[in-house]
Amino acid sequence: MSANKHSQQVFENFSKLNRLERIKWLIEMKLITEKDGNYLNLSSDPKLLEIFENLVENLIGSFPLPLSISPNFIIDGKTYAIPMAVEETSVVAALGRTAKWICKSGKITTKTMGSSIIGQIQIAKVKNFEKLRNVISAQKENLINLSNERVVPSLVARGGGVKDIILRRVPRGNGGDMAVIHILLDPCDAMGANLINQVCEFLRQPIESLSKEKVNMCIVSNLADTKLTIAKVVISDIDEQLGDRIAEASLFAQQDRYRAVTNNKGVLNGIDPVVIATGNDWRAVEAGIHAYAARSGKYKPITHWKMQDGNLIGVLKAPIIVGTVGGVTQLHPIAEMSLRILGIKQASHLSRVIAAVGLVQNLGALRALTSEGIVRGHMRLHIKNLLMSAGASPVEFAFLRKKLEKFLIRKRKITLTDVKKMLAKIRKDNSLLVIKKEKKHGKKRL
Ligand code: MEV
Repeated sequence: MSANKHSQQVFENFSKLNRLERIKWLIEMKLITEKDGNYLNLSSDPKLLEIFENLVENLIGSFPLPLSISPNFIIDGKTYAIPMAVEETSVVAALGRTAKWICKSGKITTKTMGSSIIGQIQIAKVKNFEKLRNVISAQKENLINLSNERVVPSLVARGGGVKDIILRRVPRGNGGDMAVIHILLDPCDAMGANLINQVCEFLRQPIESLSKEKVNMCIVSNLADTKLTIAKVVISDIDEQLGDRIAEASLFAQQDRYRAVTNNKGVLNGIDPVVIATGNDWRAVEAGIHAYAARSGKYKPITHWKMQDGNLIGVLKAPIIVGTVGGVTQLHPIAEMSLRILGIKQASHLSRVIAAVGLVQNLGALRALTSEGIVRGHMRLHIKNLLMSAGASPVEFAFLRKKLEKFLIRKRKITLTDVKKMLAKIRKDNSLLVIKKEKKHGKKRL
């Protein structure tokens, strides 16, 4: 059988194979080695795999990320240890340093504005917009009550449910208009995408029959500008020059979208790891934040820093749509544990803590960028990755790390090639010595 024919035949049945069979197939097809297969088998917790099998199709294993804790956060007067799932060198270290600085000289406060997420119902080729407007306005209360009674009664019992219906006219771009109906729903402690999608699809039929219009599609909008989270940091004891430089960096992001996007990436360095650690949908959070950043038609930073009366004041405002129930928040043992570490039960509470982490991460980046630059701190930590990538043994690792830190200070840069060269050199010069030391320590290469 030709490889092509084989792959066609087996691919069709891939989802019907069990996990071990899928791994075996990948080995047979030479897409992975036996060693990879063993690794996939041994590196994943069987209990977790059982959960994952029910979450996704075609599972072969799991993809671990480092899970860290950033302690020393005091938000709204309460102390937190923040769980962070992130691989990027220096994110957690920079966050920890900045949080400590704020503990000493500042204050973090947070709040939320609005509680409804948005679902969209599109009537692509609206026949009579004015008639539709009249129908929606006359039937609004009925449609709200109907959805609340039929689709989300338990949410209503908890104080949530459908709160409003708004009709929007959206240009088709070729002269005509489409009608878009926004359903506003308070999802309480859920992220709410599944809930709002169900409500929108439920409303499709009554809207069509009342209006005689044809609904094209229904879906959540990830731009929830009706549910914002705000975090504020005030640093009272700040070196004025440093404060001014941070305010200048903030102005740079306000005025230039090339800088704004990198500023926001730095904010997301703090936000995403908590969103991931708590089992939330980071794609939705990212999409929502970027869309909010561009809501004026110009991409802007979601944070803003200024000096006022000798204080540095920073504010973050953005939709951070997360849940503490639903999705994998309670299913994934690490997500559930992360929420316990945080001591958080309510979604709005979680979004406030996440906003605070994003703002503090941003402050850490701006402080570094406007003082020593980020290369030194970042690369100091990155040296460990470079040494591992270059294949240094533990003895070589310990020996070279200090040397490489000095090299970095001297040259102000360091690359994998630099590390490989230095490794080759010490191997050439000191090979006997290193081997002797290794034998004494009885350690293998990393
Ligand atoms: C790197 O991951 C993040 C920064 O680029 C953020 C920023 O520039 O503000 C340092």
